[in-house]
Amino acid sequence: APATFTTEMLFGDDAGIARAATLVRAGACVALPTETVYGLAADATDARAVAGIYEAKGRPRFNPLIAHCADFAGAVREGVFDAHARRLAEAFWPGPLTLVVPLAETARVSDLARAGLPSIALRVPDHPVATALLRAVDRPLAAPSANPSGRISPTEAAHVAHDMAGRIAAILDGGETRVGLESTIIACLGGAPRLLRPGGVSREALEAVLGFALADDSSASGAPSAPVAPGMLTSHYAPRARVRLNAETIEPDEAALLFGTVSPRGIDEAVAARNLSESGDLREAAANLFGAMRALDETGAAGIAVTPIPEHGLGAAIMDRLRRAAADRG
Ligand code: TXA
Ligand code: MG
Repeated sequence: APATFTTEMLFGDDAGIARAATLVRAGACVALPTETVYGLAADATDARAVAGIYEAKGRPRFNPLIAHCADFAGAVREGVFDAHARRLAEAFWPGPLTLVVPLAETARVSDLARAGLPSIALRVPDHPVATALLRAVDRPLAAPSANPSGRISPTEAAHVAHDMAGRIAAILDGGETRVGLESTIIACLGGAPRLLRPGGVSREALEAVLGFALADDSSASGAPSAPVAPGMLTSHYAPRARVRLNAETIEPDEAALLFGTVSPRGIDEAVAARNLSESGDLREAAANLFGAMRALDETGAAGIAVTPIPEHGLGAAIMDRLRRAAADRG
């Protein structure tokens, strides 16, 4: 898209939030911080405003967006919550969990934000700036991650400015995001809940609340069947450099993305190195993942070699994002 905006940089204080609310109410797109990643927010009830999100991101087609609400009361106006959805919302909202539920008759979210689906993805974010903006606008906000389609999600306002300046009306700065990975998406559409995307709430935590194992529909392997979350294209989160997983040796033209106390062969000759968490803490690693990938990509290295990361807890979401980053660009 052509650069047609002078993007306003706003602090996440009362004045900044009030200005962002004015812009959003007028149909503009504004980047906002959440606890997961920065989102590109627009009034979800206004199809024209939502179209502006797709245009700014350069999304190849209309994928359904998550509608963000200030609280559970706002969410139940938009979607129908069965017993499982209620239990999950009670346990994890506000927080990094998105629930896909049937559309409610009272819903205000536009067809375009849902890509015409009879279901709706809802999330109550856990970030004071996001909550304040949602309350000030008093409408659900559609917000995908605030990056160009297929690229690395932003975890700082500076990432958004780098990627989206000139394409959106404003950026609300709320500092670094705490979780660093997108929300976990669970479908509650009748029958047992299903995992559509691993994310900021671990499978273990979800299963502890539900009391049973979650069926996994997140086609991280790029299964040929149509993915259940239509936006989950296999290649995603892609840096410029090629990404190589489970590396035991670092090649001289590669940058190294490390986890824990490892020292792979070739590390001393690597273009650059970043450790996601020297102590092997998966939460810390999740929070550092996208920033580290951006920093290594900017070194100009031909490749990014990633040492093994365990797939329990947030490790599942970290490896999901890294597999997509490593996937063929097609
Ligand atoms: O943490 C997050 O979830 C961030 C922050 C900004 O909230 N948002 C985010 O949005 O990651 P986005 O648009 O990048 O991802 C939304 C995902 C897509 O994969 C989309 O296909 C799926 O949600 N989705 C949305 N509505 C759906 C629906 N009705 N059924 C199935 N999947 C749906
Ligand atoms: Mg995204």
